[in-house]
Amino acid sequence: MNWTTEEPSGNLQAAPEKIEEQEIEVDESLAIQTIGLKKYFGRGYNQVRAVDGINITVKEGEVHGYLGPNGAGKTTSMLMIAGTYRPTSGKGYIFGKPIGTPAANKLIGVAIANPHFWKSMTAYDYLIYMGQLTGMQKTLAKERAKEFLHILEMTKHGYRHPAKFSTGMKAKLAMAQALMHHPRLAILDESTAGLDPESRFKLVNTIKELASILGTSVFVSGHILTEIEKLVSRVTIIVKGKIGLTTTLKEMRKEFSTGEYALECSNAKRVMDDLSSLGVSTQIYLDSNDTIIFQSDFIDYVYVQLPEILQRNGSELRRFSPIEVTLEEVFINVISKRYGSDFLYEDELLFEQQVEREGLFKKARRG
Ligand SMILES: Nc1ncnc2c1ncn2[C@@H]1O[C@H](COP(=O)(O)OP(=O)(O)OP(=O)(O)O)[C@@H](O)[C@H]1O
Ligand SMILES: [Mg+2]
Repeated sequence: MNWTTEEPSGNLQAAPEKIEEQEIEVDESLAIQTIGLKKYFGRGYNQVRAVDGINITVKEGEVHGYLGPNGAGKTTSMLMIAGTYRPTSGKGYIFGKPIGTPAANKLIGVAIANPHFWKSMTAYDYLIYMGQLTGMQKTLAKERAKEFLHILEMTKHGYRHPAKFSTGMKAKLAMAQALMHHPRLAILDESTAGLDPESRFKLVNTIKELASILGTSVFVSGHILTEIEKLVSRVTIIVKGKIGLTTTLKEMRKEFSTGEYALECSNAKRVMDDLSSLGVSTQIYLDSNDTIIFQSDFIDYVYVQLPEILQRNGSELRRFSPIEVTLEEVFINVISKRYGSDFLYEDELLFEQQVEREGLFKKARRG
């Protein structure tokens, strides 16, 4: 597990100190490099530390996932990297060019979640216009607009107004706009949010293919682990504005694996008893759905024995698989490891205290 260099602060409010003052070597080979990047909104009591000193590295050519719960700071960090938000402090580079500068902006394509489109332009005109804004000649922009509408199966919608598109079509158009000038880095925020599973699957595959053909590095955010998994090689997890860890999915699964297996079959109780008598499984039990849950260090042996056990008990197998760790579990693990388990409930505690205080005030006023 490759933990980032930030040390746990042990306190939500305490940002990692002096990270931005460190001597940093700018690495031009990295698609994204941020050092102690911060974005605070508001002041004083109402200040929101949306992004609180994050260090991210995205390598050239990789599809890198950016995961975190709602409000973690994903969009805010992406908007800083994309040059839309000015950081409160800290530094960031895109292939060695400081974020927010024309030199960096030239290298990127950006699709932010829930895009809004002008009512006056068709999808086709919008793509041409956006292409020209990135410096493309009109003829090339026209060519690419057609090409991308075709790739994303939107050709017949090219002459419609995107403001009236469905969520999925808007997401695809945002993607086309982000990629049509063949940027070296694509920043895709929740690019498949709101899509039905089939469209999501298609779009994930298209992103993957395009990135590989164009050699584009991709930084993509999302909530859904199983979807991000198909797309990315490494992930960075952000929680409450701070980076929890950067790791490969394989390492993440290994680190947070439950070591449990689920076996769903008919006559489950009898199968469980037979499995148990093999003597190679621990903590074996039936859950509330009559699924057999167990741990075993000799799973290969269980695989070999299972067909006979099922046959003996006239049992039909429905599912046999390791219990995969969920993104939520990873978050909880990451947070607990870094900040202690109280961190998770800090907001709720503060809220409860506030409610309690308000109650006391009311009581005092009445009294
Ligand atoms: N313009 C703003 N003004 C004030 N607070 C903001 C602003 N933008 C974001 N925030 C706050 O910053 C925090 C991080 O928000 P952000 O949108 O970056 O999270 P996110 O990880 O993208 O969440 P989601 O998964 O819901 O999209 C939240 O607490 C949010 O309320
Ligand atoms: Mg967001």
